[in-house]
Amino acid sequence: MRIGLTYDLKREYLEMGFSEEETAEFDSDETIYYLKEALGSLGYEVVRIGNIYELTKHLNNGERWDLVFNICEGLYGRSREAQVPALLEAYNIPYTFSDPLTLSLSLDKAMAKRIVRDAGVPTPEFFSITSVKDLEEKNLGRDINFPLFVKPALEGTGKGISTDSIVWDKDELKKQCMKLLIKYRQPVLVERYLPGKEFTAGIVGTGEDAQVIGIMEVKFLKNAEASIYSYNNKKFYEDRVDYALEKNKKLINEISKIALSSYRVLGCRDAGRVDLKADKDDRLYFIEINPLAGLHPVHSDLPIICSKVGITYRELISEIVKSAWERKGKSVHCLSLL
Ligand SMILES: Nc1ncnc2c1ncn2[C@@H]1O[C@H](COP(=O)(O)OP(=O)(O)OP(=O)(O)O)[C@@H](O)[C@H]1O
Ligand SMILES: [Mg+2]
Repeated sequence: MRIGLTYDLKREYLEMGFSEEETAEFDSDETIYYLKEALGSLGYEVVRIGNIYELTKHLNNGERWDLVFNICEGLYGRSREAQVPALLEAYNIPYTFSDPLTLSLSLDKAMAKRIVRDAGVPTPEFFSITSVKDLEEKNLGRDINFPLFVKPALEGTGKGISTDSIVWDKDELKKQCMKLLIKYRQPVLVERYLPGKEFTAGIVGTGEDAQVIGIMEVKFLKNAEASIYSYNNKKFYEDRVDYALEKNKKLINEISKIALSSYRVLGCRDAGRVDLKADKDDRLYFIEINPLAGLHPVHSDLPIICSKVGITYRELISEIVKSAWERKGKSVHCLSLL
């Protein structure tokens, strides 16, 4: 079987003049090397394609693959993660992970929260704004209480998240919203601040076959800038964060229920990660979902979960390919067939 590999290589974008932060979600040479190695060791013929611009060239040259292993994050727009899958669907080429609708929905944290909340999954109160004027219409202190957490609505990898994300009054809220609106030029999500424990759940599979393979508590060490998984805490995680496999059965059941309901209602496929956080009374909430979870074998959360539960990187990649391959020939429009 011939598998094409699509990815956004961080180094290439840095060479083009994009900044460290602009390329934060993109993949390292190492990730692509290990991914190709794992696929090769499973007996697949692997073709490195690259980003969407390379993909269009290959497609125009008439090249085709049995399956594309896609981890492109995209560069522009809130549907950026959906662009490569949309192109592949247009050419009727099977690919790994979620489809364009799911990828677009999940990248927009406010949209994802509305869908997940509708499915009865606990999610902290929130609103999103596109200008600071929008704040005037909000019933602060009544519909939603301080402290609040402020973040860009359309980013990942902790971009725009720092100690300043926690705001305690209207002035701080206004200042932080202004800062993010100017810097990221996208809606800002304001939600109830949850000060409790943080977890991330790894999922493999699709629909009814999806399973939580492991749950880690993300624990912040004394070097961490705050008890939040901020851009800097993620970047320097070796010194600042400790990951503990959750062993408490009751907690595992509760977290798995939230994670799987969110994953399924959003239509995620093959693998992903759901982030959860607790409030001061230990009640757990959905924070966000990552249908394109990082795949660096050592540094990314999903492979870290795998290594803690005894699943090798090669096994993880094999399960992703298997899950994607099972879709082949089935209607992509009928969720029950996924
Ligand atoms: N409402 C909240 N209350 C408290 N902390 C929060 C809240 N929302 C987010 N955080 C903190 O900020 C971190 C990053 O938030 P979130 O997961 O939404 O961003 P992200 O950049 O998309 O993450 P990822 O790298 O997983 O894609 C969370 O892991 C958590 O520590
Ligand atoms: Mg997250």
